[in-house]
Amino acid sequence: MSAVYPLREAGPGSNAPRRLREEFPIVTAHPELAYLDSAATSQKPRAVLDAVQTYLTTSNANAGRGTYPWANRTTEVVERARQRVKEFLGDPDPARSSVHFTSGTTEGLRTVARDWLVPLLTDGDEILVPFADHRANLEPWLEARRLLAERGTDIRVRALPYQTASGDYDHRALADAVTPRTRFVAVTHVHHVYGGDMNVHRIRAAVGPHVPVCLDAAQSVGHLPVDVGDPGLDVDFVVFSGHKAMALPGTGAVWARDTRGPALRPGGWQGTPNTVGIVSLLAALDWLDEAGPERIARHAVGLATRLTDRLRHLDAYEILGCPTSLAAGTPLPESQRRQGIVTFRHRGIPSDDLGFILFSHGFMVRADSLCQAGADPTEGAVRVSLHVYNTEEEIDRLLDVLESLA
Ligand SMILES: Cc1ncc(COP(=O)(O)O)c(C=O)c1O
Repeated sequence: MSAVYPLREAGPGSNAPRRLREEFPIVTAHPELAYLDSAATSQKPRAVLDAVQTYLTTSNANAGRGTYPWANRTTEVVERARQRVKEFLGDPDPARSSVHFTSGTTEGLRTVARDWLVPLLTDGDEILVPFADHRANLEPWLEARRLLAERGTDIRVRALPYQTASGDYDHRALADAVTPRTRFVAVTHVHHVYGGDMNVHRIRAAVGPHVPVCLDAAQSVGHLPVDVGDPGLDVDFVVFSGHKAMALPGTGAVWARDTRGPALRPGGWQGTPNTVGIVSLLAALDWLDEAGPERIARHAVGLATRLTDRLRHLDAYEILGCPTSLAAGTPLPESQRRQGIVTFRHRGIPSDDLGFILFSHGFMVRADSLCQAGADPTEGAVRVSLHVYNTEEEIDRLLDVLESLA
């Protein structure tokens, strides 16, 4: 790990984010461009690139298969990364939990569905899943129902209720949707379109003490503190994409608490793991801990607030989800708190055109239907998603361009 960011001590208002930005070679090499698509994948700090280079030039081998030093070192690093994921997530009982490496959140959720949920369910059981979050957090549960139906087992898939205005779950209606046959609930931590924290701390109270809860943490791990030791985050699975949290593409993990129901044991022959991705994840988690997830969140939320506060006064634009900037710390317990994602539409310019226009000014944004389950593929939106390497100047420049198009 590099030692150039002793940042935890730096107070608010310090230049810490600017110093962190300097650790991202791709960002500093292109000052004329602004990468505003971190919800899709994050850029990688030098410490991660160095860890990958060092591993590939000193120890590259397969894991769990050889007895010579490179192979042993690779096996060790995979095991260390497993423990590191538990530590990073604040696991209060690491002797009982398990960590399984995947290619990302999509594969992680599918693993929970196929290898844990399907064998557990019997005729008449019910599961509650989100129909307006990322498709990755809907399709595996529908597939579970299909697989069970092929075996003659009928389960009921119920839709999590939403509050339409904000995109947050309707936690009161959710409590009513839980029945004695509810065996499982899938939720999302931060919505990838609306940017809202989905108030998952209220899920446990709504579903009761015994129902297993699976958290899609694709937009939270690496972006804000995620602490499964916090009683407010009493979930059974945390599924995330390492590549959205500073690690290499093709990297992700499932953390399983393994206390409500059987332990997660991914079935079938697993094959060679993505060792270099796992090495990158280990370095990424070290880097994130050192930088401080709270500081990262504060920075991204500050930028999102700066963007929404000006954008919502431009009549030409519609901000999706909660229109105001409910920044973390806002004393509105019933409201969603916007994280570092702002999605909007121009009332006169199609979103894919707006994406091209913004790129002509150097802004890299996402402009399509954003993989949202149930979304009309012809009705896109522009998403700006922020991370620690983004700056206020980028936001101000973006706003100037958006204003000129208003
Ligand atoms: C909330 C959410 N869930 C799941 C995914 C899928 O992640 P991956 O592409 O890494 O499998 C994404 C990716 O954008 C996401 O935002």
